[in-house]
Amino acid sequence: MGISVLTAGMARTAWSLCLVYSVLALAVDADNHVSFKEQCLSFKPQTHISKNATLNRLEYVAAGTNLAFPNNHPSCNRQSQVVAIDLCRVALSIPTSPRSGFTYELWLPETWNGRTLATGNGGLDGCIKYEDISYGAANGFSSGEAFYQNEDAVIDFSYRALHESVEVGKKLTSHFYGKKPGKSYYIGCSLGGRQGIGNAEKFPTDFDGIVAGAPAVDFNSLYSWRASFFPITGAAKSADFISPDTWKTTIHNEVLRQCDYIDGVEDGIIEDPILCHVDTERLLCGYDNSTSTDCLSAAQVKRVKAIFDDYLWPNGTLLYPRVNPGGELLAADGLYSGKAYGPSADWFKFAILGQPAWDPATYTMNDALLAVQKNPADIDTWPSSLTAFQNHGGKILAYHGQQDQQISSLNSVRFWKKLASEVGDDLDKMDAYFRLFRIPGMNHCGGGLCLDFDWVEKGIGPAEIVGTKFVGDSVDAGIMYQHRHCRYPYRSTYSGDGDHLDMASWHCVNFGGY
Ligand SMILES: *[C@@H]1O[C@H](CO)[C@@H](O)[C@H](O)[C@H]1NC(C)=O
Ligand SMILES: *[C@@H]1O[C@H](CO)[C@@H](O)[C@H](O)[C@H]1NC(C)=O
Ligand SMILES: *[C@@H]1O[C@H](CO)[C@@H](O)[C@H](O)[C@H]1NC(C)=O
Repeated sequence: MGISVLTAGMARTAWSLCLVYSVLALAVDADNHVSFKEQCLSFKPQTHISKNATLNRLEYVAAGTNLAFPNNHPSCNRQSQVVAIDLCRVALSIPTSPRSGFTYELWLPETWNGRTLATGNGGLDGCIKYEDISYGAANGFSSGEAFYQNEDAVIDFSYRALHESVEVGKKLTSHFYGKKPGKSYYIGCSLGGRQGIGNAEKFPTDFDGIVAGAPAVDFNSLYSWRASFFPITGAAKSADFISPDTWKTTIHNEVLRQCDYIDGVEDGIIEDPILCHVDTERLLCGYDNSTSTDCLSAAQVKRVKAIFDDYLWPNGTLLYPRVNPGGELLAADGLYSGKAYGPSADWFKFAILGQPAWDPATYTMNDALLAVQKNPADIDTWPSSLTAFQNHGGKILAYHGQQDQQISSLNSVRFWKKLASEVGDDLDKMDAYFRLFRIPGMNHCGGGLCLDFDWVEKGIGPAEIVGTKFVGDSVDAGIMYQHRHCRYPYRSTYSGDGDHLDMASWHCVNFGGY
């Protein structure tokens, strides 16, 4: 059992992402609570850091305490967090330059198993608005304004804050317990997934194990792809605008009609988006002499096709892979909702173009090209190989929802293939350090995966991951069914008979898809 981990945001404008750095505990030892508390309260973390750090919090937190984070953004679902074990909570703001820095928390449990865990979060989207009330006024990366004419803030956002927090975390942990930390782990999704991969690329010895969910790798092209939807959809009241309701019913139903049964089971879940190529012409009113009015105009069909197609450069090479079919259920109110996507707009305004007044409706591929060329703070995170990390013995467990409405899971497959081509498309070599689990039916970062210590510590990598669906999505209500998630290039494949809700009816089959 590990310590609960929470996400946190940044403290001040021009201060970068905030991280929680936990030191994992396995068991709680009941002796010496008083002295642990005293040890905690007499700890002087600043004296171990050469930088001019500010101590925001130093407190002993007893097991069962419900820590409140009143300013955390509701979408983070972390207004509070019950702490499972006695721990010492340290919160610091650490400058990285005169105009930027990061804030972070270190949770030190009374009984320590020697491991450390960092969680990344934050970014232009995600749970970055968390702000403990004691830190002062916040706005963080809720807007990208912090990037405007402040390259240091972009550098912190790109890689420095995470790396430095790991260094500080390891150092403070050694001082607190009087011994060196053992294996070091990282877990993060979306932007946090990108941070994990980027860290493995730039600082290959920081972590031994990284869990990277829906990683926002190929960052600039991802943000261009997201920016491309608004010019396609047009504004919500414009002619031929496709309403969220039409996306969720007419279009989604047609997607399922064409793709749900490919895996042999009609369950509303498209098992593998690689196999689903939606023929958008079938949405056109009058297609096949249909008299149904549940259909789209030619102009609308053109838009759906533009959205569903791979995003290509003018010369025909791939800029960013196509959306996950099925993702329209949530993208209807997100990327396809007829509003500029805020984080992309901010990225272009403040980091790429340096034009706060830029109108996202005017986005074109020229902006995408500029983003790739500029690549601020080397944020792209699109390495061809992770050799140094691999040589360090590091393992990456990546996962991606197959119905991700924010980052195409096909980009994770593309990334896997890119790394695989560097090792001669040798599956064993990929299996040895990088495994990508594709999770059918899962939305963007919906539900994380557990850390797998065995892979790092005993060399036993997971072949499959069992996903659990709870009744009404409530853990307390009990298990509804479980499903087998496979690592690429294996595909979860229905046996053709048997209860499709029974895990035994599915197997991971290598379809040679690379
Ligand atoms: C350290 O931080 C304090 C408070 O922000 C500031 O007043 C002081 O000038 C800083 N010192 C250095 C050496 O940067
Ligand atoms: C549609 O109707 C036209 C005219 O009646 C007919 O020629 C055509 O074969 C029909 N197409 C289909 C697919 O039924
Ligand atoms: C196509 O265009 C993109 C963007 O300008 C460029 O990066 C890529 O190298 C080009 N590919 C080919 C095959 O010319």
